[in-house]
Amino acid sequence: MKQKRILLTGAAGFIGFHTALFLKRRGDFLLGYDNFNDYYDPLLKQNRASLLALEGIDIIKEDICNEDALQAAVRDHKITHLVHLAAQAGVRYSLKNPHAYLEANIKGFLNILEVCRNNPDIPLIYASSSSVYGLNDTAPFSVQDRTDRQASLYGVTKKTNELMAQTYHHLYGINVTGLRFFTVYGPWGRPDMAYFMFARAIMENQPIEIYNHGQMKRDFTYIDDIVVGIGAAVDRAYPHEIFNLGHHHPEELSTLISLLENGLNRKAHKIFLPHQPGDVVATFADITESTEKLGFIPKVTLEEGIGQFISWFRDFFRLK
Ligand SMILES: NC(=O)c1ccc[n+]([C@@H]2O[C@H](COP(=O)([O-])OP(=O)(O)OC[C@H]3O[C@@H](n4cnc5c(N)ncnc54)[C@H](O)[C@@H]3O)[C@@H](O)[C@H]2O)c1
Repeated sequence: MKQKRILLTGAAGFIGFHTALFLKRRGDFLLGYDNFNDYYDPLLKQNRASLLALEGIDIIKEDICNEDALQAAVRDHKITHLVHLAAQAGVRYSLKNPHAYLEANIKGFLNILEVCRNNPDIPLIYASSSSVYGLNDTAPFSVQDRTDRQASLYGVTKKTNELMAQTYHHLYGINVTGLRFFTVYGPWGRPDMAYFMFARAIMENQPIEIYNHGQMKRDFTYIDDIVVGIGAAVDRAYPHEIFNLGHHHPEELSTLISLLENGLNRKAHKIFLPHQPGDVVATFADITESTEKLGFIPKVTLEEGIGQFISWFRDFFRLK
């Protein structure tokens, strides 16, 4: 089989880093693309990029809002597949800085689609999010459910991506697959996510803020399961699909906190706060279609996954 030549946006990010390693190690050619922005500590992104460089994966330091640079990367490296993970992530930050989301997630995404329109043989696999389900309260969340009532502007941009991708598929025949990720966690994770912030605060004897008085459930999904799902989506390159990639096993926030406390050998100082605007109370992925069409079967339990995260976390921050 001919080697796949993949352009991976967001390669210096959490999911991008792991995806790059996974795809490269199974034999694909990988080229990263990332602007290394400072939404969170760029040192973490540089560290990930250094590890990727050791495996022979380069990252072009550019913005997806620069369409010419994207077109050149695809042309010059004879790209056959596009995996688009670059985005302004984070639900809560979308209340603070909405413009960042419009820029990266809408303008940037349009550029990605335009690259595909100019190269219609290149299938596009892109990151959507469980946030598209927004105020949906029928669990588990199925890809057949309504997704027209988002709870945050972040969710709106991800839903808009799905509509844009569907329209480009319809107009220009490009193959597009959207992957709705559910609370992805693991080593080299994102410092703005709750599990990472909690771990840090617990180690520094700082209080942790728990919203909605702890009445929250998340379908925490381990990164190794996610990258297998992304790989399958690349291989199948369906004409037009949307898949949930979630563990299908929601857990209480309190379970996450207990696992962190046990792993770090310290008690958390908890501050319970009211519901935070933009947050949803629970997420739960129905993965029927993902299992049928991608062979997606998540394997890693929250206990195992948090164990892996803590062992990386200790090592990275040199904790005894
Ligand atoms: N981590 C999760 O739980 C989760 C859940 C649902 C969806 N997602 C989506 O998955 C994708 C990857 O998320 P992540 O957790 O790895 O986030 P991340 O922030 O670690 O990675 C995103 C990367 O994209 C880069 N980037 C952002 N804007 C860019 C731009 N304009 N040009 C070029 N590069 C840019 C950033 O520098 C970063 O390295 C995102 O699209 C995110 O919305 C993530």
